[in-house]
Amino acid sequence: MQAIRASVLHCLADPGEAGRKDAWEYFDDGMLLVDGGRIVDAGDAGRLLGALPANARVRDLRGKLIVPGFIDCHVHFPQLDIIGSYGEQLLDWLSRYAYPAESRFADAGHAREVAQSFVTELLRNGTTTALVFGTVHPHSADAIFEAAEARGMRLIAGKVLMDRNCPEDLRDDPDSAYADSRALIERWHGRGRLGYAITPRFALTSSEAQLEAAGRLAREFPDVWVHTHLAENLEEVEAIARQYPDSRSYLDVYDRFGLLREKSVFAHCLHMDAEDRSTMAAKGGAAAFCPTSNLFLGSGLFRLTAMRDAGVRCGLGTDVGGGTSLSMLRTASEAYKVLHLQEHALPPMQALYLATLGAAEALYLEDKIGNFRPGREADFVVLDYAGSSLTARRTAAAEGIEEKLFALMTLGDDRNVTSTWVAGVEQVV
Ligand code: GUN
Ligand code: ZN
Repeated sequence: MQAIRASVLHCLADPGEAGRKDAWEYFDDGMLLVDGGRIVDAGDAGRLLGALPANARVRDLRGKLIVPGFIDCHVHFPQLDIIGSYGEQLLDWLSRYAYPAESRFADAGHAREVAQSFVTELLRNGTTTALVFGTVHPHSADAIFEAAEARGMRLIAGKVLMDRNCPEDLRDDPDSAYADSRALIERWHGRGRLGYAITPRFALTSSEAQLEAAGRLAREFPDVWVHTHLAENLEEVEAIARQYPDSRSYLDVYDRFGLLREKSVFAHCLHMDAEDRSTMAAKGGAAAFCPTSNLFLGSGLFRLTAMRDAGVRCGLGTDVGGGTSLSMLRTASEAYKVLHLQEHALPPMQALYLATLGAAEALYLEDKIGNFRPGREADFVVLDYAGSSLTARRTAAAEGIEEKLFALMTLGDDRNVTSTWVAGVEQVV
């Protein structure tokens, strides 16, 4: 048994725009008890110290803040090296930057090297679970799963399906997409903490035959995830409307191919109407809100309040390399600004929810990760208010945990991550 003494904060539900105080718990002089890779208890140190078993190892991290490991609901590991590429909106950005970077993944050695660096970067930022795009090459999925498995991480990934409107060297076809995805599901899904996601890039780059093959896989393997992009950019939405004139909406295209169901995660979801939102909620699909990407690529503003009011599961995503940071603190800060521009609020506790428990709900993993209820897997981050001189000053002047957390989100980044723990094991990064 390990006992870690620090301030402890986690969410029990969505605090919402009002930041509801019964939706989160905070223990200023707190303690986390961990055994066998799972949470035994979280609470006041005074209560827990009295009942510690004789063999417990106590780690004193007073002054630091422990929160659940961050969950990134949408990210592309092959785009690590083109993060922050200048000047284009989505479709030109894909052609100019993303596809050339992904072409380099024909080399399996390169894929393995990037996967190792990517997983290390996630952990340096306090991210313990991610839903990850590979490239069209099946060995890209092997590479990211091997890197995550070596760390014991709960990670979901998939090989990309794309067979049109993209460079020749990045195309598969409906049959190979089906066969390769099926083989990867059988190799990786449910192995340790790993999970597979059927990953059609988006409806523009898959033929109808390929979307049909993806839908067939989704029916045959109801327990695997579906991961794609939806309604990110207006030019993209118009192209989809031309390609599918009989579909009511972009979401309807995926729905007609059986790709909208529980454990389907759609990145962006910016240009949707009320009917789409209620259909997505009713069918159990989830949205990944990727603010740094949406601002960087000039895509639009995510309507978090409308999505949550409709009952859609939502989590935060970084969308690196369209997104500009792997830090969920930085991502939360940009999410706040996106809400602010729409005259809505994003209180710090709701931002924390979107990066932890809300993201776990979006991935249907809330019985395993996302907070510190007894029995949950012990994935957590130790945050340091003094990670930079400015966060030290600002948090020293802050009153109460909400103000401190908001300052960490607004000013903080990987410098404020002291350590990241995966299934109770402190990671070396
Ligand atoms: N839509 C289709 N592919 C991509 C991608 O790689 N990044 C983003 N942000 N959107 C996409
Ligand atoms: Zn993306």
